[in-house]
Amino acid sequence: MTQVTGKVCVTGAGGYLGSWVVKHLLSNNYTVHGTVRQPGDAKYAHLNQLERASHNLQLFKADVLDYDSLCSAITGCTGVFHVASPVPSTIVPNPQEEVIEPAVKGTLTVLKACVESNVKRVVVVSSVTAVSLNPRWPVGQIKDEACWSDKEYCAATKNWYCLSKTEAESEAFEFAKKSGLDVVTVCPTLIWGPLLQSTINASSKVLINLLKGGLNSYLCFCTSTPT
Ligand SMILES: NC(=O)c1ccc[n+]([C@@H]2O[C@H](COP(=O)([O-])OP(=O)(O)OC[C@H]3O[C@@H](n4cnc5c(N)ncnc54)[C@H](OP(=O)(O)O)[C@@H]3O)[C@@H](O)[C@H]2O)c1
Repeated sequence: MTQVTGKVCVTGAGGYLGSWVVKHLLSNNYTVHGTVRQPGDAKYAHLNQLERASHNLQLFKADVLDYDSLCSAITGCTGVFHVASPVPSTIVPNPQEEVIEPAVKGTLTVLKACVESNVKRVVVVSSVTAVSLNPRWPVGQIKDEACWSDKEYCAATKNWYCLSKTEAESEAFEFAKKSGLDVVTVCPTLIWGPLLQSTINASSKVLINLLKGGLNSYLCFCTSTPT
């Protein structure tokens, strides 16, 4: 019989990256609690078809702004991968409500639920956009953990996605310092590869558009300004 490794929660389990995280955890014998916003929606059907999903995957309805729903999903888990965050592929009319709040307040709400549930370690998926948008960083100097995107510059240039990821990651570290929660962040660049889900996410749209000879959606994803 296969030994179960442990119980881990993945927020945004049905998205592009979240689905891959769930797949890898299941294939490494973890029991997975995945959060989705609309359980029963056909866009999550692929999750139940993953190997070992029938026994080891449980989906929970949770919004990252809803503390109680997160607690239900996180209770009993030793680790959490916080993947859920809005990744717009078009201009958003209300960036504060649609992008920044779910990213920043959502991350803090997840972290609070982790403290409540005595989670041992949380991996917060940040982004290279939390690092790269800093016009004052010396040219040629390697951008490392000391380099953060300039929030004022992000706001002035309407880079709402970059602002959301920068604020979310820095608030996550502040929260970790105050609470003692073990928080690790990762900052991927553009992630490309096979899609497990039936819908097309923003970074895959960039690739599709580039293959079709366009550049617009790449610029839109990176800068959130009309091109
Ligand atoms: N793809 C990349 O190139 C890339 C690069 C760097 C960092 N990242 C980061 O990786 C993470 C996943 O991105 P992705 O490319 O996989 O995008 P995605 O496919 O659009 O997935 C985003 C996920 O976030 C969830 N979500 C959004 N708002 C939410 C809310 N208010 N409450 C609960 N869930 C919410 C969505 O849930 P629903 O399914 O319910 O809509 C979806 O599952 C994000 O944190 C993103 O910033 C991605």
